[in-house]
Amino acid sequence: MNFNDGMLKEGTLSGKNILITGGGTGLGRAMGEYFLELGAHLVITSRKLDVLQKAAKEMMDSKGGKVVPLACDVRHIDQVEEMWMEATRQMGQIHVVLNNAAGNFISPTERLSANAFNTILDIVLKGTSQLTLTAGKDWISKQQGGTFLNIVTTYAWTGSAYVVPSAAAKAGVLAMTRSLAVEWAKYGIRSNAIAPGPFPTEGAWSRLLPGNLAQQFDPSKKVPVGRVGDHQELANLAAYLVSDFSSFVNGEVVTIDGGEWLKGAGEFNNLDQIPQELWDMMEASRNKKS
Ligand code: HXC
Ligand code: NAP
Repeated sequence: MNFNDGMLKEGTLSGKNILITGGGTGLGRAMGEYFLELGAHLVITSRKLDVLQKAAKEMMDSKGGKVVPLACDVRHIDQVEEMWMEATRQMGQIHVVLNNAAGNFISPTERLSANAFNTILDIVLKGTSQLTLTAGKDWISKQQGGTFLNIVTTYAWTGSAYVVPSAAAKAGVLAMTRSLAVEWAKYGIRSNAIAPGPFPTEGAWSRLLPGNLAQQFDPSKKVPVGRVGDHQELANLAAYLVSDFSSFVNGEVVTIDGGEWLKGAGEFNNLDQIPQELWDMMEASRNKKS
């Protein structure tokens, strides 16, 4: 048994139709592929229809099942509503919405234009709220319930320099997740979030570690377990959180980062740089005094 093996039993997601924003690339695609393996059908949506169509074909060829690609820019409510109507027309009921689409880049905040800041807020916070509202209203009016899973990051609660619009937006998504977990539970709607640490993807690495930054700031060095995440590990957690096995999990944010954010937070965590010989000397000097 390996950490990068599929974890759940066959058929765990049979009968579930799952809509994934940003489902044609990176982590959205990786989670989608595992959902297919577990018996779900998918709608994948983002701005680039050609990318989605290619991904949908490849996913169905390799994993089977049904994958419907639908173009939608989540920043525009008319597109979100139209996409939702088309998704439900083609799939019938949608049982799960995975809010995974995001935009991000690194920059000193004082260098950002208002449009740059708003672009990230619009994709991450407004995009998530618009789809959540559209799906939630539909689920409530049809009395059918549903499950939201929102992808945030650990800096949703720590904040982070140089990605301030993303940090502000993800914090908003996390607050929304916890708020609706309470407000909409009476309608049979659960809301949870995952906060991943570093999981290499083309989309994130090209924007957050451009050029040779990945060598200079090797993300695995910040992680106590000494490595970055594997996509299957995230897919295992996501599959659990959208499955009926997690029916009593509501309003939770699950961190999957190998201990990364806590390493940055603990007052004395950098003492792991002290060599054994120095600990020996300190112990010897303590023993001498007593
Ligand atoms: C400063 C920037 C910029 C940059 C764009 N802008 N890139 N400002 N630094 N690197 C500014 C532009 O000049 C413009 O402002 C405004 O932002 C909008 O830019 P556009 O290119 O017109 O926007 P758009 O075509 O809508 O593209 C959105 C995007 C792009 C966010 C800029 O990168 C994108 O499509 N991203 C989607 C995928 C993505 O980002 N994936 C990574 C997620 S990783 P002006 O004023 O000039 O008009 C992630 C990980 C989190 O979230 C945690 C990691 C541990
Ligand atoms: P990615 O491949 O770049 O994924 C982002 C997706 O969002 C793309 O498929 C993109 O597709 C879609 N998207 C962007 N703007 C959109 C818009 N306006 N409307 C609809 N879709 C849009 O990067 P990723 O690393 O897989 O990131 C996936 C999620 O994980 C994000 O929420 C990210 O914040 C989170 N995350 C990633 C990491 C990591 O280490 N990779 C860590 C923590 C959190 P189009 O370009 O076709 O629109």
